[in-house]
Amino acid sequence: EQHQSKEQPLAGKKVLVTAGPTIEVVDAVRYFTNHSSGKMGFAIAEVARQLGAEVTLVTGPVQLDEPVGVEVINVTSAKDMYDAVTKQFNEQHIVIKAAAVADYRPKKQHSRKMKKQDDDLMIEMERTDDILKTLGKLKTDQYLVGFAAETDKLLEYGQGKLERKNLDAIVINDISEEQNGFKSDTNAVHVLTNKGFNKAIPLKSKHEIASQLFSIFIGEMSGDGS
Ligand code: CTP
Ligand code: CA
Repeated sequence: EQHQSKEQPLAGKKVLVTAGPTIEVVDAVRYFTNHSSGKMGFAIAEVARQLGAEVTLVTGPVQLDEPVGVEVINVTSAKDMYDAVTKQFNEQHIVIKAAAVADYRPKKQHSRKMKKQDDDLMIEMERTDDILKTLGKLKTDQYLVGFAAETDKLLEYGQGKLERKNLDAIVINDISEEQNGFKSDTNAVHVLTNKGFNKAIPLKSKHEIASQLFSIFIGEMSGDGS
């Protein structure tokens, strides 16, 4: 079955998207997380589906309706997301990591509630595995896209992540601007690819940003350099 029409350029393709924050448990009542709303990742999953792809969305806890026609896998911790994503990676054509994954987790996770003491509390944190970097090493034919959330030196840090993680493209977010923020319905991004493509996409709805991202990725995958 082939229908690679203009409207369904991703027909027959498998797309994996990650979205949302992760949650790292401290004890029975407390956890570390971040401000990610999941909106950008959900918009990407929705647009991929509209373009004809078979879409898997691995998401941390968010307050959003599941996109229609998309397989949703709910996860909580960075470790859960790592397991779900690496398990699915082989069979994918495009993988887009929009999730805001915790870089650290508490070294000890207490199943009981920790009681307060008079002293200050020190919580020792350990690094989580970098999912995207792992995928960059495992990559065969997949088109691999990362996101970068930055407040400073956007292009420099973004380029560094593109190279270090062996990505095909990186979407850089200036999270110091409120309208580009984690919670917003709009975003403005800068896209860099490993073929040297470099473009700023000005403020638009996250849905429109997602559409423009796919025209860039599809153009690069088909090699027409657009
Ligand atoms: N990422 C990941 N696994 C992690 C941390 C990040 O897969 N444990 C991914 C994110 O999903 C994103 C990309 O790496 O696609 C960049 O995330 P970001 O937080 O901007 O960069 P880091 O490499 O974590 O560096 P830093 O937070 O220090 O800027
Ligand atoms: Ca990080």
